[in-house]
Amino acid sequence: MTKQTDYLIIGSGIAGLATAYFLSELGSVLVLTKGEVRNTNTYWAQGGIAGVLAKDDNFESHIEDTLRTGAGHCKEAAVRQIVFGAPKAIKFLKSIDLKIEKEPMLEGGHSKARVWRSSDFTGRDILEVLIKATQKKKNISFLEKTEAVELIVDEGECKGAFIRNEEEEKMEKVAAKNTILATGGLGQLFGRTTNTLGSGGDGLALAVNAGLELQDIEFIQFHPTALAVSSNGRHFLLSEVLRGMGAKIVNSRGERFLKKFDPRAELAPRDLVSRAVYVEELTGPVYLDMRHIDPGKVRSKFPNIQKTLKEHDLDLTKDLIPITPVAHYACGGVPTDLHGATQLPGLYAVGEVACTGVHGANRLASNSLLEAIVFSKAISETLEKSVLMDARKNVNIDSLESPAVVIEDINQVKAYGKRIGQIMWENVGIVRTAEGLAKAKKEIITIPARDYRVQHRQLVAYKIIEACQARPQSLGAHYMAKEII
Ligand code: FAD
Ligand code: SIN
Repeated sequence: MTKQTDYLIIGSGIAGLATAYFLSELGSVLVLTKGEVRNTNTYWAQGGIAGVLAKDDNFESHIEDTLRTGAGHCKEAAVRQIVFGAPKAIKFLKSIDLKIEKEPMLEGGHSKARVWRSSDFTGRDILEVLIKATQKKKNISFLEKTEAVELIVDEGECKGAFIRNEEEEKMEKVAAKNTILATGGLGQLFGRTTNTLGSGGDGLALAVNAGLELQDIEFIQFHPTALAVSSNGRHFLLSEVLRGMGAKIVNSRGERFLKKFDPRAELAPRDLVSRAVYVEELTGPVYLDMRHIDPGKVRSKFPNIQKTLKEHDLDLTKDLIPITPVAHYACGGVPTDLHGATQLPGLYAVGEVACTGVHGANRLASNSLLEAIVFSKAISETLEKSVLMDARKNVNIDSLESPAVVIEDINQVKAYGKRIGQIMWENVGIVRTAEGLAKAKKEIITIPARDYRVQHRQLVAYKIIEACQARPQSLGAHYMAKEII
């Protein structure tokens, strides 16, 4: 059976839902999501959304901080686009009822406090207002627990996707005039991550299988302050905003050690702090310490983080919190232009799956939620022009057959996923070596992937390793050991 829509959006995080909201003015929108609508990384975002709104801040400073943190590898035009687009993006979120706090917060790499929050779970708040706003739009329909398995490429254009409901063997087709990849990140390819279970880099596999190249995927950002113990397949994050408020990072002797690595210490960019914590961990546990900060202020600013820590018998106001660096964010992805368009006509990419060039070799904190809103608007403005020019024809894919894919038992799929995570964490993690990368490549290809979900993860893992091997010198979040440690 073929479903028809003007716009197919794959993913229901901030990028997918914001794009759906804007495109609903132009035609019918189908949002496809592989879990339930809230199963996204957006739901777990904490720190907030960066933007120059305060009188004593300025755009050039945000641009400079982004370029410097990105280790000189960012595309400046894309950086300028998000920085200048921030006031409008935040205004949009307010217009759909996001309540933003009056004072911005500080995070690493920013020379000013310019991270705007609604609470200490800003991502969840954003997702809730976006769900409400999109559910009100008559033109938008949702398909949950349904996965995009393959993009439909016909006559050199993307014409939709083959999809599969997770409870069914058979596949269906969606014919779409335009398809928007908004599938998020790939943290789950690494054994330790802040990312939610669905973040296995599907969008990158879909793009590669459609004939596209990936860009900058060696730049995996590791977040230095995840809770040291994992639960439900991920590590809970301890937001960088905690450090923005004065939290210290200390070793088992209670010593601050970050100044040895960078004068900005706890507020240096994430790549530096993660590596320093990684090195310190070789000799003992590392902690986040907030005990010196007014407990009333800590409780009022971080009620949700406190609640989660309580489940682990920990309290920010009284305890040293054990931390560890884990995989957090893909700085690269499917390359797009400044309108979100990929090299494949009919296919756009937005959010973490895309590589707009904004993040370069290392993303500046809280630029991701911002990028997602600014580029979803850019996509809708571009597609509005093609509607006005009547440039897109109806799509007919009736004659196309669904591909035959193997579907194995879910426990087998999970076991292979775990193996990939182990290989990547051990060999393609915070500190990489040429030998480790070669070993990882050899081991990844020996996994007997038959199920398409395992094949997707295997393919993306392989592409990351290849990208790392193609860059023997360290840059930003990509760190090759021989040079320093
Ligand atoms: P997601 O929100 O991850 O959504 C991806 C969607 O795609 C999901 O619905 C998923 O189910 C769906 N999907 C995936 N594959 C398929 C498929 N094959 N078929 C169908 N659907 C599919 N950034 C900031 O700017 N500020 C922060 O404070 C911040 N805090 C963070 C905290 C945590 C713990 C994490 C993990 C990230 C944080 N980030 C933050 C990064 C930011 O949250 C993410 O980059 C951003 O939310 C990604 O949005 P997205 O819409 O691209 O992807
Ligand atoms: C955090 O709150 O530390 C995460 C912010 C981000 O990933 O940008």
